[in-house]
Amino acid sequence: MLSVDNLVVRYGAVSAVRDLSLKVGRGELVALLGPNGAGKSSTINALTGLVTPASGRIVLDGQDISRVRTEDRIRAGLTSTPEGRHIFANLTVGENLRLGAAIRRDPKGVRQDIERFLALFPVLSERYGQAAGTLSGGEQQMLAIARSLMSRPKLLLLDEPSLGLAPKIVVQIFDFIGELKAEGLTLLVVEQNARQALRFADRVYVVSAGTLRHSGPPSSLADEHGLFNLYIGG
Ligand SMILES: Nc1ncnc2c1ncn2[C@@H]1O[C@H](COP(=O)(O)OP(=O)(O)OP(=O)(O)O)[C@@H](O)[C@H]1O
Ligand SMILES: [Mg+2]
Repeated sequence: MLSVDNLVVRYGAVSAVRDLSLKVGRGELVALLGPNGAGKSSTINALTGLVTPASGRIVLDGQDISRVRTEDRIRAGLTSTPEGRHIFANLTVGENLRLGAAIRRDPKGVRQDIERFLALFPVLSERYGQAAGTLSGGEQQMLAIARSLMSRPKLLLLDEPSLGLAPKIVVQIFDFIGELKAEGLTLLVVEQNARQALRFADRVYVVSAGTLRHSGPPSSLADEHGLFNLYIGG
């Protein structure tokens, strides 16, 4: 579904991503792991068009989207839930959800999807008319993911969905991510919490200092010369 070839991202003199290639197959959950500053968010932001890569090719379902605007990437089926969630704190839960559907022209379908997410997350239903900034961190992450899903992506990119959340909430978020995968969604998940990310991952890529260090099934991390501890820890 997604094929990234020789991606390079630079910020001035800083090389954030060096010649990174990866693939995500239809229905797969692929984990992108690595320490702070490894270039994970830069990779995600290049995929969504938020940063312009110095070079490389991004192909979604056979269509080269490397030079395509973010909005048109969303139309093509690629949406991200960015690091730090970026919900609109002053807008209500309902307004945040509707914003996720900004590219859609099927009001009836949008209403149905909102109903579905409210049934899925009763707390979003209870707080529907309240400012999103009043939700807890875990609730805001649920809202951020639900908002992303409002564009009906084929491929969802999640950047650190567990960031800053209590362990119990992290497990809930990943249970939900597992359900999305079971429903057939394709996912690329960036995480520092490797244990959670690996619960549902089909394959894993490990990056550090902008460079791909390893790729393979989750089981390969355990025996790869202490790779798990070296690059991921805990
Ligand atoms: N806007 C920017 N301007 C300059 N340098 C940047 C910018 N964004 C990121 N960097 C640098 O690029 C490198 C990769 O950063 P990036 O945020 O992609 O890493 P990351 O793997 O997502 O890290 P983290 O786990 O902390 O989120 C780092 O050295 C970072 O300091
Ligand atoms: Mg990051």
